[in-house]
Amino acid sequence: MAAFATGEHRWIGNLGNLRNAVRQEVIARQLADHVGDGTTVLDVGCGQGTQALRLAARGCRVTGVEPSADLRALASADADAARLELELVAGGIDDLDELLGERTFDAVCAHGLLMYLPDRTAAVRSLAGRVAPGGRLSITVRNGHALAFRPGLRGDWAGALAALEGPDYVNEIGVSARADRLSDVEADLDGVGLGVVAWYGVRVLNDAVPVDQQPPADDDELGLLLEAEDRVGRLDPYRWMASQLHVVAARGEA
Ligand SMILES: C[S@@+](CC[C@H](N)C(=O)[O-])C[C@H]1O[C@@H](n2cnc3c(N)ncnc32)[C@H](O)[C@@H]1O
Repeated sequence: MAAFATGEHRWIGNLGNLRNAVRQEVIARQLADHVGDGTTVLDVGCGQGTQALRLAARGCRVTGVEPSADLRALASADADAARLELELVAGGIDDLDELLGERTFDAVCAHGLLMYLPDRTAAVRSLAGRVAPGGRLSITVRNGHALAFRPGLRGDWAGALAALEGPDYVNEIGVSARADRLSDVEADLDGVGLGVVAWYGVRVLNDAVPVDQQPPADDDELGLLLEAEDRVGRLDPYRWMASQLHVVAARGEA
C-alpha cells in the first residue's frame, strides 16, 4: 500500500474539519455535472466512502475499492446507517484486474489518491481501463501549479520557497506526496485515449485555514462559503490556485 497508511489515523481524525467539508461538497457538485443518477460507479481508494455514499444516495450502483480495513469499516457503517447499498472490495489500484475481472463502469473515480502513487501514468491507465464506452473518469490531483500558495498564505515563507522548487511536498497528515500539473495529467489521459471534458479547482478560498478549523455552525454562513468555493472552482484565474485539480475525462473527447 502507498505511504498514505502512515497518515491514516490523522486522516480519520480530520474528516469532520472545514477543509474536508469543502473538498467533499465541491467534488460532489462538480461530479453531478457528469455522473447521472442510477449509473454504475467505481470509486478506487474510496476511503471512508464519502463520495461513494453520496452517489449511492442518488441511486448509483457503487463499487468501492479500498485497501484499508479501518476505512472500509467506516464506509460500511455509514452505508448501513443510511440504508444504502455499497459494494466494498478490499484491495488497491494494482489489483483491479484480479478484483474486477472484465467489469467496466459508467464512471470511475479516484479522489485524493494519485498524489500518493509513484507512477501516475500507470495509475491513470489502470483507471481508464475500467471506464465503459461513453463513461467518465473523475480524478483529483494535488495542484502542482500553486503548491506555494498555502504555505505563503500561512506566512510560512520557507515552506513557500521550498514549494517552488519541485512537485514533492509533505501534506497536512504528514505524508510525503507529489503535486501534478494539468498538462501532465492531460498527457497521461491522451496516452490512453481519453480527453478532458472539464476541469475544476477544489478548495481555493479555504485552503489555508487551520487543520482543526470546523465548518461554521451557522447553516447560512456554511451555505454561502460552499457556494463561493463552488463558483471559484469553475472560474479562471481562481481555479488555478486551488489545493486540488479535479479532472473529468472521457474516451475520444479531447
Ligand atoms: C486521501 S484518502 C481519500 C479517500 C477518499 N477517496 C476521499 O476522497 O475522501 C486516500 C485513499 O486512498 C487509499 N489508498 C492508498 N493507497 C492505495 C492504493 N494503492 N490503491 C487504492 N487505494 C489506495 C487510502 O487507503 C485512502 O482511503
